[in-house]
Amino acid sequence: MDESSFDNLKTGDYSQNPREQVRYAGQLSAVRFLDPTDRIDAQKLKQTITNPNVQHWMSDLNMNEADFVAWMQEQGSTPNRRHYLFAVSGSQRTKPEDIGEIQGFIYFYSSSEEKLQAQKLIDAGILTPDDLEQKRLLEISYAKSPDSPPGRITGGIMQSCLEVSKIMQRKSDTDPENILVLAYIDPENTNSIRAVEAAGFDEIGSIASYGDEIVPNKVFRLNWDKLHKNLQSAAFRSLT
Ligand SMILES: CC(C)(COP(=O)(O)OP(=O)(O)OC[C@H]1O[C@@H](n2cnc3c(N)ncnc32)[C@H](O)[C@@H]1OP(=O)(O)O)[C@@H](O)C(=O)NCCC(=O)NCCS
Repeated sequence: MDESSFDNLKTGDYSQNPREQVRYAGQLSAVRFLDPTDRIDAQKLKQTITNPNVQHWMSDLNMNEADFVAWMQEQGSTPNRRHYLFAVSGSQRTKPEDIGEIQGFIYFYSSSEEKLQAQKLIDAGILTPDDLEQKRLLEISYAKSPDSPPGRITGGIMQSCLEVSKIMQRKSDTDPENILVLAYIDPENTNSIRAVEAAGFDEIGSIASYGDEIVPNKVFRLNWDKLHKNLQSAAFRSLT
């Protein structure tokens, strides 16, 4: 049997030992890392990625079970690569059995490929050289699970951005948010554009090619001030 097949992953009784997750005040869903040892997480991730609506907008998604397990395991940061895979997980206004379970994912990643892509933005005058020299780069990508309620991913993006900035903080950081988070989105993907804009991203331009894609992508950049304001007003609304 393939060592990396989902059959080798464990299952837990989460009604007795709830999954650990973080939810900011006023948010419907929580966020947490995916658990690479957990079969339900792996199955949910696969179900999300193989959903035709997600396949339509995301490229290079021909993955087998071993690829999913490897993706879930590869969490963290090395000198030339960063990779954080968060679950958007059930919390408020959800069935008791869905609390802690995956409603979608938020993926942050950065390697030499993403740096090269960002260099094209500098060449096009969309970013400044300082942006790349001074800040740590992350690209973001996300998707909603097919059977999850809508309206959870924006909160997931906001909360996971804050969690990622906490994880990436270094002792020497004067600004813990000197992290450049970019999203490249097909201009026809209006659901995705609505979600990042609602989370606090600004459209900063358009780039003719992303990888092998021919259609120009819109480029969005996280505006940390907007994200904080959004989270604060959601927290405030929940108290009044
Ligand atoms: C893109 C995608 C994740 C959006 O899912 P969604 O459920 O529509 O997204 P959200 O959960 O954020 O909901 C968006 C709406 O909720 C609002 N919203 C939800 N939570 C919010 C929050 N916490 N604060 C503020 N606004 C919020 C948004 O303003 C938006 O409102 P509108 O639809 O009335 O304009 C989903 O369509 C999908 O999986 N698409 C396929 C994969 C994909 O395209 N990924 C992106 C590749 S770049």
